[in-house]
Amino acid sequence: MKVKLKDIAKQANVSITSVSLVLNNKPCRISSEKKELIEKIAKDNNYTPNINARSLITNETKTLGLIIPDIENIFFSRLTKTIETYCRQFGYALIIVNSNDEYKEDLYLLDLLLARGIDGLFIAISNSAYNNKEEVCLRLKKLTIPYIMVDRVFDELNCNQVYFDNVKGSYLAAKHLIENGHSKISCITNCIYSKNTVSRFEGYEKAMKEHGLEIKKDYIIEGDYRIQSGYNTGDMVIKNHTTAVFVTNDMMALGLLKRLGEKGIKIPEDLSIVSYDNLLNDFILGPGITSIDQNISNLGKTACDLMLKLLKNEETAIKKICLDPELIIKKSVKNIV
Ligand code: RIB
Repeated sequence: MKVKLKDIAKQANVSITSVSLVLNNKPCRISSEKKELIEKIAKDNNYTPNINARSLITNETKTLGLIIPDIENIFFSRLTKTIETYCRQFGYALIIVNSNDEYKEDLYLLDLLLARGIDGLFIAISNSAYNNKEEVCLRLKKLTIPYIMVDRVFDELNCNQVYFDNVKGSYLAAKHLIENGHSKISCITNCIYSKNTVSRFEGYEKAMKEHGLEIKKDYIIEGDYRIQSGYNTGDMVIKNHTTAVFVTNDMMALGLLKRLGEKGIKIPEDLSIVSYDNLLNDFILGPGITSIDQNISNLGKTACDLMLKLLKNEETAIKKICLDPELIIKKSVKNIV
């Protein structure tokens, strides 16, 4: 049977509080003999601390929460792995929950995590949170534990944030296509109301305008960051007679590549592609896809380091950390200069 604190206290003839303080290496006014006896009884009975019981004394559960919008998206599964692995080194367990890009799930899962006594929260908000900003911001502002917005942020919310410069990333992508002679460039976006989308369109638009290139209405095709939405844009990309396409995330690029393959469109011979997230080349056949890399390991570790400081009250000023993405050139862009 699992030995509890009260069993050790009874055997050592001391209070439960004394046992908990000794086993948590906290200061305690009992003799060194009693301390050794408590430690021996715990060891002999293979005592393992109950984190819930311990939290009653220490007021911490050594548990963190992570809300992500799409656990099937490689970007988020990689981010989750980085955060979970890193926090574990510091004795923190991570509870991971998936909002499926629905803001009501963000709010429900937030309460579910708080009910489990998490000490801190990482959140990559859902696409639809941008359509319900006031409600989500209000909820986050009420939090009494440290929280960090990761990857997807609300500019107007004065809170800790770690994210990438999406304007820069999309500018690099479009500029690379333009420097290879492309002037008719499609852009497959995420949901138009998402901050991520606005920024990634802004960078594309900046590069096009800098080179005096027209952005025709049918160049801009809205997806939702998921594979199927990328697949659904394939016929429109073919019909709009652009020579290149900038896809604002890898999952949509995967869907687009599938549809283009079905239609016999060759990359880069018939159409050049630059994607975003740089995660596909481990999985697909054919030419490597030129892409914007968002160093997920750096994103996750930066967020964890900030969280650890917040948990130890070593950081009080709000930090908004913007990381630089990088263009990784492979073989999916044809030079037509
Ligand atoms: O692929 C998912 C996208 O949404 C990534 O580019 C990341 O920025 C996330 O916000």
